[in-house]
Amino acid sequence: MKVLVTGGAGFIGSEFVRQGVKKGYRIVVVDKLTYAGDLKRLCEVRGRYMFYKADICDKKKMEAIFRKERPAVIAHFAAESHVDRSIEDASPFMDTNVKGTQVMLDCCRKFGIKRFLHVSTDEVYGEISRGSFTESSAFNPNSPYSVTKAAADMLVRAYWRTYGVPAVIVRPSNNYGPWQFPEKLIPVAIHRVRAGKKIPVYARGHNVREWLYVSDCAQAIWLVLAKGRIGESYNIGSGQEYRNIDTARMILEIMGKPDNMIEFVKDRPGHDIRYSLNTAKIRRELGWKAGTRFSEGLKKTIDWYLKH
Ligand SMILES: NC(=O)c1ccc[n+]([C@@H]2O[C@H](COP(=O)([O-])OP(=O)(O)OC[C@H]3O[C@@H](n4cnc5c(N)ncnc54)[C@H](O)[C@@H]3O)[C@@H](O)[C@H]2O)c1
Repeated sequence: MKVLVTGGAGFIGSEFVRQGVKKGYRIVVVDKLTYAGDLKRLCEVRGRYMFYKADICDKKKMEAIFRKERPAVIAHFAAESHVDRSIEDASPFMDTNVKGTQVMLDCCRKFGIKRFLHVSTDEVYGEISRGSFTESSAFNPNSPYSVTKAAADMLVRAYWRTYGVPAVIVRPSNNYGPWQFPEKLIPVAIHRVRAGKKIPVYARGHNVREWLYVSDCAQAIWLVLAKGRIGESYNIGSGQEYRNIDTARMILEIMGKPDNMIEFVKDRPGHDIRYSLNTAKIRRELGWKAGTRFSEGLKKTIDWYLKH
């Protein structure tokens, strides 16, 4: 089966491609190679996938790629993904995340694609102080990033309802692991500690994130692509929730540094206090459960950054 992967040179997309090549799928990667894209992430599978450097907003180019490659299914990861950047400038987020998703959906209609897997995010639900979000929880996105992801998510649903585009949606929680661009909390923290600097933590560090190891996430996405029900969405979470201050302390402990190497910085505007996913659906329907404990994944991630 030929799988076209958008954003396959990014953090999660590249893990999905590495796993897919090893499983024997024929993979076509389409990536604009923005600041966040890097083909080095695919060095392990070099020469074993097709690559197109292209912008998913470019309809003509996308149609030409679909016409030439005739993929059976699409896994759509490409996005502008960093909340802080969306607060600085929402424009590229509107373009890639909303318009780009629409272009991909139109190509799926035109070329009769068998399955379109859309990678959404837990952030579409907004924040929750107690309990967890299920797939039918209302959308309440709070950052320009999550608003564009919510718009894309709803557009995918609309294309399924209106045109019968066979789509399935995943909503993962915060990912971490090797190859993440060092602008997100965990790689930033590792880089700073390694340079003898303090870890910057927003406000008092009480915001909670549900941490999912990237290879667990990619494995779940392969499963949903193969067996998820069309027209459905699936939360992908680990159930392992930590306050940012505790994540920073765990990193300091693993790296053998004192726990006061933390500096509190001005809070992110509109900062969501807590994300939490109910994952009963993916467990019940597909038998999937995150396999990596946070402490174990964090050790592997730190080892990887120190080696690279
Ligand atoms: N990282 C997380 O914790 C997380 C959690 C939940 C959901 N997600 C979602 O998962 C997906 C992948 O996230 P990530 O962390 O790997 O992101 P990333 O920023 O590491 O990678 C994004 C990739 O998309 C490419 N890209 C950006 N704009 C493009 C365009 N216009 N055309 C073609 N390619 C383009 C970039 O070059 C890059 O390779 C995104 O849709 C994101 O919203 C991420």
